Amino acid sequence: MDLVNSKAEDYAKQYTCALDGLLQEIEEYTLAHHRHAQMLSGHVQGKLLEMLSLMLQPKRILEIGTFTGFSALCLAKGLGSDGKLVTLELRAEDAGTAAGYFKKSGLGNRIELLIGDAMEIIPTLTETWDLVFIDADKVNYINYYELTLPSVKKGGWLLADNVLFHGEVLEEKPSGKNAIALQAFNEHVRNDDRVQQALLTVRDGLMLIQKK
Ligand SMILES: C[S@@+](CC[C@H](N)C(=O)[O-])C[C@H]1O[C@@H](n2cnc3c(N)ncnc32)[C@H](O)[C@@H]1O
Repeated sequence: MDLVNSKAEDYAKQYTCALDGLLQEIEEYTLAHHRHAQMLSGHVQGKLLEMLSLMLQPKRILEIGTFTGFSALCLAKGLGSDGKLVTLELRAEDAGTAAGYFKKSGLGNRIELLIGDAMEIIPTLTETWDLVFIDADKVNYINYYELTLPSVKKGGWLLADNVLFHGEVLEEKPSGKNAIALQAFNEHVRNDDRVQQALLTVRDGLMLIQKK
């Protein structure tokens, strides 16, 4: 299902600043070479991630789901000189692509890329996070949320991507496993009084969550 009128999407792109040259290169490379290119955040959401990070000026960011490195580099733009972004990716090939772009970006010394299953890596991390971006396998969203929330600073933020899952969560009874998982995640957050949240209808749905 096309969630947003395609004319409105094109209009939003026209009136959103262009991405920097490297982010454009990553987007173009991914669209041309990756069979799951639709997973990339893309122009408007990428700019939104960049601007949210610039607003929040986080010192520690955790990203779950690196893919080709696009959103990590958007989020890293808000890091100060002592800031660090840790990003987790299961697939070594995508991690290799991302690592090349991180090096090229000049922000490589502030980005730590860990390859493996986020469910196993997250419990080994000892940082306290200002911002967590959940964008990996949908069936584990509640697990990622519960694993990371205790390590998010009071007043800190989480973002969760694809919470509308191509509109499938709008169905009375979602049937796909990802849509079921995201519907459960959205309910879970709504019923959690440790946080406040806003569900933004950007791209595939982006949940903005603040720990109270
Ligand atoms: C939607 S893509 C991420 C897109 C990226 N954040 C962006 O906006 O450009 C999801 C990524 O999560 C990775 N992934 C899936 N399951 C994972 C897991 N259990 N641990 C770590 N990464 C995982 C996938 O390999 C994929 O690259």
